[in-house]
Amino acid sequence: MSTVIVVGSGQGGFQAAASLRDKGFSGRVVLIGDEPGVPYQRPPLSKTYLAGTTVAEKLHLRPEEFFATSEIELVSGRVESIDRANSAVVLEDGTKFEYDHLVLATGARNRTLSVPGAELNGVLTLRTRDDADKLRSALEAAKDVVVIGGGFIGLEFAAHAGRPVTVVEAQDRLMARVATPEISAHFARLHEAAGTKLLLGKGVTALHGSGGAVESVELTDGTLLPADLVVVGVGVVPATELAAEAGLRVDNGVVVDEQLRTSDPAVSAVGDCANFPSVHARCATRLESVQNAVDQARFVAARITGEAVPYTPVPWFWTDQLGAKLQIAGIGTGYDHIEVSGDPAAGKFSVLSFMDGVLVAVETVSKPSDHISARRLLAGERAPTLEELRASDFNLKEHLKTLVA
Ligand code: NAI
Repeated sequence: MSTVIVVGSGQGGFQAAASLRDKGFSGRVVLIGDEPGVPYQRPPLSKTYLAGTTVAEKLHLRPEEFFATSEIELVSGRVESIDRANSAVVLEDGTKFEYDHLVLATGARNRTLSVPGAELNGVLTLRTRDDADKLRSALEAAKDVVVIGGGFIGLEFAAHAGRPVTVVEAQDRLMARVATPEISAHFARLHEAAGTKLLLGKGVTALHGSGGAVESVELTDGTLLPADLVVVGVGVVPATELAAEAGLRVDNGVVVDEQLRTSDPAVSAVGDCANFPSVHARCATRLESVQNAVDQARFVAARITGEAVPYTPVPWFWTDQLGAKLQIAGIGTGYDHIEVSGDPAAGKFSVLSFMDGVLVAVETVSKPSDHISARRLLAGERAPTLEELRASDFNLKEHLKTLVA
């Protein structure tokens, strides 16, 4: 195989290109992204970069020289279409790149609020470095800050904004998409203690302003919250337009098989945009995490260079908020039983989720060694059962020892 084109230069796209070289791929590698500059990491954007303790250069995944030395052609531009009949991608300016294999790492884009006033000045979102820069300077000037969405973005923003903000969340608890109620409650306590005003179970009906600038947020119960900065973090949608227009199968993401190949075997998809059959989610799923983007990219690079095994890594996620590190191993969706180990009041505990008597996910708060043990246990041939873990008093590290002994 002589040319691999990677579309999307986020964490997944960058990793696919870099891993091809790590695996000894000697053909042409072209990495095409629509953001300027070298690929950078996003996790600090809503944490230390927002707080001003990480500088822009520290975000770079590799220094600029890396791309020349590794012979990875970094192309800045927007791919407009995939011409599958001629195995080529076409950029907005008409430039064409032919491929032997194409990797789609197009990621996701932020959902927008579909309420009147959503386009007012002072209504911002956060996904790119450019978004974070705008948000940082808006934050300096703002008086009343309202965050819409109590998920990862909203809460990390609230935790790192350096001042009390109001968070409006439509569900009756925080991070409901990914966390158990025990974890939601713990983080609600931390945020309230830090001065965050949490309005749970509230929708937004309109944003009001004057002179084009936002002035207030109207909630479903009629409340008007004063706001000169509104941060919208209401989830993402996968960027699938290119794939769909090219006739690839799309269904909540670009559909791929257990080898991460799309419905065209010359095209793979990785990261936030890929809907893949996950053994750990027990169904086809799309995951929005750095781990998933990196591991899938490494997997595809290995496959292109001749290693073919199904994709099976244990998914994991993390967030840092107000001195607490939440780490999640596995996918708990559909759990029917939970056990809490440790003391939430002391700020260090784990929540173990089970389905049909088998461990499916572990959330740890400021217990990194439990998180590592959980990942090892979930990666095993057979996940531990409720009874087995009960016998170890839900001590994951001890249970691991019994397996090794
Ligand atoms: P999210 O899905 O984590 O949270 C969105 C939240 O907004 C949900 O709790 C949802 O119930 C709420 N919501 C939706 N519509 C609403 C409405 N109209 N009014 C009020 N609440 C509403 O998505 P989020 O936080 O926007 O993050 C975007 C992406 O960035 C995700 O892919 C996320 O995984 C990723 N991310 C991950 C981080 C991490 O892993 N630590 C940190 C920051 C972002």
